[in-house]
Amino acid sequence: MFDLIVKNATLTDGQSGVDIACKDGKIASIEAGISAEASTVIDAEGYLVSPPFVDPHFHMDATLSLGTPRMNVSGTLLEGIALWGELKPIQSVEDIVARALRYCDLAAAKGIGAIRSHVDTCDDELKGVQALLEVREKVKDVLDLQLVAFPQDGVLRDLTAMENTVRALEMGVDVVGGIPHFERTMTDGAKSVRLLCEMAAERGLMVDMHCDESDDPHSRHIETLAYETQRLGLQGRVAGSHLTSMHSMDNYYVSKLIPLIAEAGVHAIPNPLINIMLQGRHDSYPKRRGQTRVRELRDAGITVGFGSDCVMDPWYSLGKADMLDVAFMGLHVGQLSSRVDMDWCFDAVTQNSAQIMGLADYGVAKGCDANFVLLQAQNKIEAIRLRAHRLAVVRRGVVISRSPVVTHTLFKGEGSKSLNEARLDG
Ligand code: FE2
Repeated sequence: MFDLIVKNATLTDGQSGVDIACKDGKIASIEAGISAEASTVIDAEGYLVSPPFVDPHFHMDATLSLGTPRMNVSGTLLEGIALWGELKPIQSVEDIVARALRYCDLAAAKGIGAIRSHVDTCDDELKGVQALLEVREKVKDVLDLQLVAFPQDGVLRDLTAMENTVRALEMGVDVVGGIPHFERTMTDGAKSVRLLCEMAAERGLMVDMHCDESDDPHSRHIETLAYETQRLGLQGRVAGSHLTSMHSMDNYYVSKLIPLIAEAGVHAIPNPLINIMLQGRHDSYPKRRGQTRVRELRDAGITVGFGSDCVMDPWYSLGKADMLDVAFMGLHVGQLSSRVDMDWCFDAVTQNSAQIMGLADYGVAKGCDANFVLLQAQNKIEAIRLRAHRLAVVRRGVVISRSPVVTHTLFKGEGSKSLNEARLDG
């Protein structure tokens, strides 16, 4: 007797007609024609079962705050940072908790099973840290929330940021963050990378820095991050988020830089929606896209995961917790349009990001946690194309969200099918 069986699923590797049986929160069996009984049975009708979406870069302390205390008029990164500075002193721990819980509810229904959220530590009261530690505990039955201590105003530029970042880690925040390109000088930026990596090494923690989120081709803190990762033996535990300056760097320099990042085992987290929105703002025409060199990083063997970064906050007015929107944008901006490349973009919002976050027992395979999402699509590329409906979301073997198959009835004539039913080749 199983807790849950999903019948007639298609898996992300293309296997079809598969049944998935879950027991005690784990995937107990995965094969065709499981005949045992279960408390709950779902007919997948041949649709795609994927491991949950993973968002490796988010700001949950700011999400859903759009318009408070005012809108970002210019729509720029710097006005967003200024606006966040206006919001921080007037928001309460309770405000942040309420917004974050609303967001987690939406995210879980969209099939997101894990989120890495940065939390601002440039606040002597650490309201965001208090709030998100509470939220991390409250949402653990629907998603994994991993927190990054993020000194938004610069760990050296802000007088109490270093002390507050250490306090945040002592309170239980998981990962060390930073923002070297926002420090006052290049020298201070490099120094901040060194100090924060040492802080992580001493505590056995991972590192995830906002790194070179700039159009300045001379913003090269990723080079220092790779160096410190190697020096301190942090390989596989460090990520550089954004890395947008790499878009504008000299090609000869990049030909040296990318192998160094690969050698250091540093992961990359571009944030396609936000990068295409915020970069290139000082350009006339042609305008730079500002997304980092995704294809080249991937081809060098670097693990690349796409993050969403923002939803309805001081930096970005849009968003709906849909990692397929993120994959869709990353695909377009990176011109990742071959079948192999599009398929890989789905991995960038699932398994690659799970690897970056260090998630254990992730995947749709026997012995893994019974966490998955049933998508109204036949394969990964179709899921991105349609930003497919989430028909069911399963967490530790429990169905936490359901919605009906969407059908279209406008064209009922012989041979006419809706886009969802057209059985297009992917
Ligand atoms: Fe960010």
